[in-house]
Amino acid sequence: MARCAGERAPASAGEVEQPEASGVAARGRYTQAMRIAIGSDHAGYGLKSDVIEHLTSHGHDVVDLGTNSAEVSVDYPDFGAAVGRAVSSGDVELGLCICGTGIGISVAANKVDGVRAAVVHDVTTAVLARRHNAANVVCFGERVIGRQVALDAVDAVLATEFEGGRHQRRIDEITALEANR
Ligand code: RB5
Repeated sequence: MARCAGERAPASAGEVEQPEASGVAARGRYTQAMRIAIGSDHAGYGLKSDVIEHLTSHGHDVVDLGTNSAEVSVDYPDFGAAVGRAVSSGDVELGLCICGTGIGISVAANKVDGVRAAVVHDVTTAVLARRHNAANVVCFGERVIGRQVALDAVDAVLATEFEGGRHQRRIDEITALEANR
């Protein structure tokens, strides 16, 4: 659905309750649609398709940066960098990346200034990546995570805000490392 810049659609996802997980359940619910970039290599294409369907069905504005097939082998750095640049430029509020393990594509995304990419494996790591690490790119491994676990983790990412406080100082230290590149 086309929208003007800055305009947000209501997200029906606001009705989704977040599951409890080891005392780190996501706080609250997400009540606004987000603009989200997503990218994968061939090994993450299937889960990417599932995540896109999940997000769009809940009213989010998803920018699919490829790849477009599970059959054609491609290089994950291209897609991690594309998602990282979309986040760094401010074109999107959040990035999602998927490869076989989530590792390679997260390493690539993290080379873009301003990106804090984190590989997550479940709701617990998703919540903590947002709450403590202010992750703005969240990465998954299609070969190492179940589909429903991944979708629950995506919901947890969207529902969780950065906690700030003592964590802000650490985020500032990470940002300062970019000046020495
Ligand atoms: C592709 O075979 C695989 O190496 C890639 O998807 C990813 O797992 C790398 O980290």
